[in-house]
Amino acid sequence: MLTLNRPDTRNALSTSLLTEIAVALDSVREDDTVRCVVITGGDTVFSAGADIRELAKRTSAAAIVDVRPNLWDSIRKFPKPLIAAVNGYALGGGCELAMLCDITVAGAGAAFGQPEVNLGILPAAGGTQRLVRLAGRQLAMKWVMTGTHIEACEAQAAGVVAEVVADDQTLERALALAEVIAEKPPLAVRLAKEVLNAAQDTPLEAGLALEHKACAALLASADFNEGVTAFLEKRRPKFEGR
Ligand code: COA
Repeated sequence: MLTLNRPDTRNALSTSLLTEIAVALDSVREDDTVRCVVITGGDTVFSAGADIRELAKRTSAAAIVDVRPNLWDSIRKFPKPLIAAVNGYALGGGCELAMLCDITVAGAGAAFGQPEVNLGILPAAGGTQRLVRLAGRQLAMKWVMTGTHIEACEAQAAGVVAEVVADDQTLERALALAEVIAEKPPLAVRLAKEVLNAAQDTPLEAGLALEHKACAALLASADFNEGVTAFLEKRRPKFEGR
């Protein structure tokens, strides 16, 4: 589990915090004992987005060679499931981080949003692209152009959030989902993530071919053998990621 912990700035995603997230994920990328990662900001705030004090000093020239897009890319390419447990505000980069996760569980009191327009900029960590893909062009336009806060239930109805639970259940529910996923065959989960992510940007024909090839590859795994054998022997499977 990763806990964002910069309470003084409402967990603002400074470059150093973003680096820490990317490094932390990198450190468990090849660790077979870690099968799923939950990202939370704690009980009261997920993240208020980019650090505005840091942002205030950024020049256009510096932004061109900024390391942040690479950090976001590295987080995006984390191959294992990422689950966001969101309580409180998930704004700007915080909203983008939640949307980048594979499953987002939100407390009923959580508020999402892309308020960058209020600062004279626009979402630049995937917000414009992901919102259109998740919620559709109309809602994305409304949310990005107004910078409004979006309640958890509205975010769920729009497909930005998988589940809404009572605020005091958010982390528990995210961890429970992580435990369920952790018991599944890691190779199948990993390829499922890859194929599902590809669906957003791939023509159907190519996506179906990718899906077919991924499944064909899994037929060669020991975990496939274990899954089928355990089913036929009426016992719980034990998957090892081979
Ligand atoms: N970057 C840097 N500092 C931030 C921050 C951010 N994104 N969001 C909040 N903070 C800081 C505030 O400056 C304040 O610091 P201070 O105590 O030294 O004055 C502290 O966190 C508390 O913020 P405050 O606004 O008083 O808390 P709140 O609970 O009333 O409101 C938010 C919380 C998240 C709704 C509000 O802080 C906010 O709108 N933040 C900006 C969100 C945003 O525009 N994100 C996109 C950035 S591109």
